[in-house]
Amino acid sequence: MTDIFDFEPRVDDYAVMGNPIKHSKSPQIHSLFAEQTKQLINYTAIQVDTGGFKQAVGNFVANKGKGLNITVPFKEEAWALVDERSERAERAGALNTIKIKDGKLFGDNTDGIGLVNDLKNNHNITIKNKRILLMGAGGASRGVLAPLLSESPKEIVIVNRTASKATILAEHFNDLGCVTACGYDNLAQGVLNGELFDIVINATAASLQGELPPLPDKLVTQQGCCYDMMYGSQTPFMQWGARQTINTITDGLGMLVEQAAESFYIWREVRPDTKPVLELLRKQLVT
Ligand code: ATR
Repeated sequence: MTDIFDFEPRVDDYAVMGNPIKHSKSPQIHSLFAEQTKQLINYTAIQVDTGGFKQAVGNFVANKGKGLNITVPFKEEAWALVDERSERAERAGALNTIKIKDGKLFGDNTDGIGLVNDLKNNHNITIKNKRILLMGAGGASRGVLAPLLSESPKEIVIVNRTASKATILAEHFNDLGCVTACGYDNLAQGVLNGELFDIVINATAASLQGELPPLPDKLVTQQGCCYDMMYGSQTPFMQWGARQTINTITDGLGMLVEQAAESFYIWREVRPDTKPVLELLRKQLVT
């Protein structure tokens, strides 16, 4: 007979897969969420070689893993691999979250809702009826467009170095709201019609290279917001925002924590409190 006191509570396995993965903050964030919400999970980081993604996911499923975060460079491959996708993931063309149930893979993309929740809840910024400038037309922009549009901004202008890529992206999303596209030259030449932007989001890879996209001055309202999706240092874009005396200037650390919270909710149906986790990570970055 089994003694009920011999019963070992089950610890569910989760992981983040990417390459490189060493510097991922996801294991720390999810461990803090689990501790806070008393969920029994084990979350690890798995480095996956190029060409080995499908096999790595297969092994994880075979070992009864419950869920995955997916990061660069496997987000698109993950999208193609899963059995089912959420609507926002369908649009994004990329996944950052997989839930595994009865051997089936359900894919989602929580990056956009992470950005929206950070803007709204951590920075008190309203998106409704606002004019947004989204810089970049790669995967990072594609991932946030549907959730941003679902907040009913007045307009989103996608600006990109290669303007044709911005046009394609705008066309892909313009059934969800007012999305237009332009190049940086057009911004300088006054695509604004005298109206300034309320929120400028940097979804380019420029900050990674220590560069600033060619933004003209007098683009953003003084009560506006400059948001860099990168985190960890004062990026050239954030320094530009400071020179424009814009009210809110922030990096993307909050988005990182909020997207993780949404993944955690998808897996565990429990919503962690993001504030203490964000505060801790911010402290670690500063010290
Ligand atoms: P991700 O998936 O992270 O969005 P990506 O698909 O490589 O990465 O896209 C990078 C984006 O950053 C692109 O929009 C790129 O512009 P181009 O499409 O013209 O290449 C943009 N980008 C990269 N470096 C930039 C820079 N120094 N200034 C402005 N835009 C830059």
